[in-house]
Amino acid sequence: MRTAEIRERWLTFFEENGHTVVPSASVISDDPSILFNIAGMVQFIPYLSGREPAPFARATSVQKCVRTQDIEEVGKTTRHGTFFQMNGNFSFGDYFKADAIRFAWQLLTRAESEGGLAFDPDRLWATVHHDDAETVDLWLEQTSIPRERIQFRGSDDNFWHTGQPGPGGYCSEIYYDRGPGYGVEGGPVADEDRYIEIWNLVFMEFELSAVRSKTDFDIKGDLPAKNIDTGMGLERVAFLKQGVENMYEIDEVFPVIEAASRLSGRAYGADGDDDVRMRVVADHVRSALVIIGDGVRPGNEGRGYILRRLLRRAVRAMRLLGVTEPVVPHLLPVSMEAMKASYPELEADFDRISRVAYAEETAFLRTLESGTQLLAGAVDRVGTGGAIAGDIAFALHDTHGFPIDLTLEMASEHGVTVDEEGFRSLMQEQRDRARADARAKKGGAADLSAYSQLLDDGASEFVGYDALSADARVRGLVSDGGAVDRAAVGDTVDLVLDVTPFYAESGGQRADQGLIRGDGFLARVLDVQAPVKGLPAHRVEVLDGEIAPGADVFAEVDSAHRFAAAQAHSATHLVHSALRTVLGPHAVQAGSLNQPGYMRFDYAFPDALTPAMRAEIEDAANIAVRDDFDVSYEYLPLDEAKRSGALALFGEKYPSVVRVVDIGGPFSRELCGGTHVARTAQVGPISLLSEASVGSGTRRVEAAVGLDAFRGLARERTILQSLSEMLKVPGTDVPERVSSLLGRLKEAERTIAELGRARVLAAAADAVANTRDIGGVRFSATELGDVADAGDVRSFVTDVRNRIDADAVVVAAVGTVGGKPSVVVAADEGAQSRGLRAGDLVKRACTELGGGGGGKPDLAQGGGQDAARIPQALDAVATAIAEA
Ligand code: SER
Repeated sequence: MRTAEIRERWLTFFEENGHTVVPSASVISDDPSILFNIAGMVQFIPYLSGREPAPFARATSVQKCVRTQDIEEVGKTTRHGTFFQMNGNFSFGDYFKADAIRFAWQLLTRAESEGGLAFDPDRLWATVHHDDAETVDLWLEQTSIPRERIQFRGSDDNFWHTGQPGPGGYCSEIYYDRGPGYGVEGGPVADEDRYIEIWNLVFMEFELSAVRSKTDFDIKGDLPAKNIDTGMGLERVAFLKQGVENMYEIDEVFPVIEAASRLSGRAYGADGDDDVRMRVVADHVRSALVIIGDGVRPGNEGRGYILRRLLRRAVRAMRLLGVTEPVVPHLLPVSMEAMKASYPELEADFDRISRVAYAEETAFLRTLESGTQLLAGAVDRVGTGGAIAGDIAFALHDTHGFPIDLTLEMASEHGVTVDEEGFRSLMQEQRDRARADARAKKGGAADLSAYSQLLDDGASEFVGYDALSADARVRGLVSDGGAVDRAAVGDTVDLVLDVTPFYAESGGQRADQGLIRGDGFLARVLDVQAPVKGLPAHRVEVLDGEIAPGADVFAEVDSAHRFAAAQAHSATHLVHSALRTVLGPHAVQAGSLNQPGYMRFDYAFPDALTPAMRAEIEDAANIAVRDDFDVSYEYLPLDEAKRSGALALFGEKYPSVVRVVDIGGPFSRELCGGTHVARTAQVGPISLLSEASVGSGTRRVEAAVGLDAFRGLARERTILQSLSEMLKVPGTDVPERVSSLLGRLKEAERTIAELGRARVLAAAADAVANTRDIGGVRFSATELGDVADAGDVRSFVTDVRNRIDADAVVVAAVGTVGGKPSVVVAADEGAQSRGLRAGDLVKRACTELGGGGGGKPDLAQGGGQDAARIPQALDAVATAIAEA
């Protein structure tokens, strides 16, 4: 039975039993601390914990999951996959233990012809928590399982929680007996290889307040309702149903093993180590496929790092199988073919997925070579049994992209260990440095207690979406982190108001500017930041009078500045939408900056934009301006906002109710707290200025917006006009004319260089003919005049030296390169044996020229400043010869 069919049977069974079929959530968890979804229940946590009312009483899903803590076990056991699918059925305060047990038993034992999975009931076992005797009775009452195939176990196996405070409860697990060929008798407590766990029924009734480990946690009380959360391992059921030995040999995975075997020419099943490598390859390639499919890109942290590690481990395993060429292009399509029955989106999006994966392999192969050399050198130095220093491991990680685990693996293959602690402390230092840098930039290292105290009396009200000015009262003044009771002319302080129309910098939008005035008081707002959430602090320079807490003021935003910032922010949404239209939905936002006249937008994408893409994006954004879309906003619960298609910034924590900015209905919908224009025509022109890479897999576009965009284009038009006049061609012909001029210029330069060389060659004949004898040394000195570069002088000198037939020869020549003298001196063996070294001689000459030089005894070179003293420089060489 194919894996996709087991999945279908599952969903159908539970749907027929009143469950709503819920699609798998992305493998990326909403919770940044757990990185990936590790269980089917994760997307239902708000309902299970009672935090939100469940929209359905019963649900079922097949969830994509990634767990990598046991990555070292992959391929070595029957059942450790970094990617797996968890089939789940859930009850939110509806049915409880009895029905959960009955449903599981029915689906497992029912005949295939009736939609079941047809497991032999005589081979099924169950485990129950030893404090949960009630569940044993329910098993006996609801199923035909005999008492002797139900075993008690402790919290280690039969209590389930997520590892975090939240819902948890006893569980009951179902095992399948593979038979005596696989291990000893005695049920799951005796052997978990023979008895394979296939399904976990969790009876969620407690709320945990603290979780210290699997078995060490505090129960705060009962959940508002009793819930069911079950998880069946789809891969495990598949391998049992398909009659193969392990999860790597099922229909969704095995084709990649076959491809790895074909590529390497090694048979699967012939060698234990090779088999493990092929399973690692198949597992990791599949995981990478799914993870990239859900939008993760390789990187050095978090999810990106896990993806990188998976791909690199796969490539590395293929190398150990003897394949050094790129392998991912051979393996990834095979994995996609095997997975597309269940996940058609992998095929639809394969173009993008494969580009990301192939680029990662290419990058890795480049560094693998140099990193391997570095490692091999270190291994040689420490010898077998030695330990590689932490800084080598760090360099391998930092500059060669070796995940530490790869270094550990490769080191152990050579019989050496690695100072992991040293490595980790270097990594920590690097992180601390980065954090300190970030803090220093934001000035956030300051003590925030003065602001926190103000916040204790309540947040400040922001009225700036609707108003550009407001009457307000000064709640406090803060200077250098401490509360102050007055500020006077010339002071710069942070002013906190009860109400403010000023937008504090956030979401990439720069703060408003403007004025705050009061009775005899005037201050200019330089910046607005919220050092603690909910408390905008206006950094003001006092221009007149003085101010104290409690004073009444009038706060007024500079409307032109605000309007221009709003233009830029709306332009960012338009460009974001245009990018996604052109590049696909995975060009997700990675950061932005909006300030009057300018916007910058960072997004995840592996490649540079082609000129055609760039034009298309610019066009789409400007068409949206022309279409004069309405810009509106509404407040929605986070989930509803996301369901409505609003884009959220990846990894950002949002409040439970969010503001959604909508431009032109489906055109653009984003979670955003920024200020915007009312209609897109107000944005004015958007002109893309540049496109560049900012770190791996992230690109940045910059654009001028509104009047600035227009003025920039107008400036360029003026430049083009003057070029067109200068070149006497219409503007459209300027590029062609410039290119032809450049061609001719290059040609002319080539001719000049050739002529120069011919002149130098001719001079060589003179130089050979006109030597003088200084104490038995033949000396030739030449002023070459202008030459193309120092190389001409050098070839002249060596040429002359080779052509003079004498016992001892010294040749010196000076040419000028761009007005500066360039000196070369050669001394042959005869001259060197008389103590004349070219390096010394050239120094003498260069001293005369106000410069320096040096080189080997036979040939040396230098330069100077003063071309007028070239004769003296050559004389100095002659003098030095005479002295010797
Ligand atoms: N949450 C339980 C598990 O992950 C059952 O779904 O095993």
